[in-house]
Amino acid sequence: MMVTLTIDGQIIHVERHTPIIEAAKQLGISIPTLCHHEGLQPFGSCRLCIVEAFRGNRSKLVTSCNYPAEEGLTVLTASDRVLETRKMVMELLLARCPDVPGIRRLAEKMGVEAVGFKKKGDQWCILCGLCVRACEQMVGVSAISFASRGIEREVKTPFGMESDVCIGCGTCTYICPTGCIEMTGDPGPPGHRVMDMGDLALGSCSNNHDCETCDIDQGFLDKMKRAIESVRL
Ligand code: SF4
Ligand code: SF4
Ligand code: FES
Repeated sequence: MMVTLTIDGQIIHVERHTPIIEAAKQLGISIPTLCHHEGLQPFGSCRLCIVEAFRGNRSKLVTSCNYPAEEGLTVLTASDRVLETRKMVMELLLARCPDVPGIRRLAEKMGVEAVGFKKKGDQWCILCGLCVRACEQMVGVSAISFASRGIEREVKTPFGMESDVCIGCGTCTYICPTGCIEMTGDPGPPGHRVMDMGDLALGSCSNNHDCETCDIDQGFLDKMKRAIESVRL
């Protein structure tokens, strides 16, 4: 069922429940994101994609990556309220990950120069969940997941042990927008968390590991390249 909504003054007809961010994209309106990937189910964790959605005179801030298009909805993607809140979200991200180049660049682009919060740490993971969802939904393995709560929350293999299901494809490494995951044996600069991804299942290849002649591998690489381009900061 098609619905009609207005985004930044432009009218658009889309299928009901289309995420607002997709409808905005069709109008050429770009909304900043960190945890969104169109090939993965939305997670709504970074809050950077917030927009203001109006029903009559009442409005509320919603995350556009998972808020569904409804008949008669009016959306503002860059109202004062949106920009102010988005800036605050960015400040929090910068406070969490002050050393991540991509976060610093994005903050600068959004005019967030001085962090108003006390520096919270030198982490690289913004808990966007892209790696977890990609491993589950693209690779079909679920070798990593979120563990713990609050400030202890992190992405890891079950019990932090070497995974016996990870195929070492590197998808999580490629899709991570902060460069937080490095494959074992490739330690990054200080501050990176190196996850032990386990051994490759070398016995499972029917093409004698000749990736250059493997249709599956090439198709997979193309998919990954597109994924990287859409999430790299
Ligand atoms: S390298 Fe392992 S953990 Fe990362 S996406 Fe591939 S299977 Fe999942
Ligand atoms: S490791 Fe990277 S992709 Fe995974 S949750 Fe953290 S920042 Fe996101
Ligand atoms: S992109 Fe929507 S919450 Fe992260």
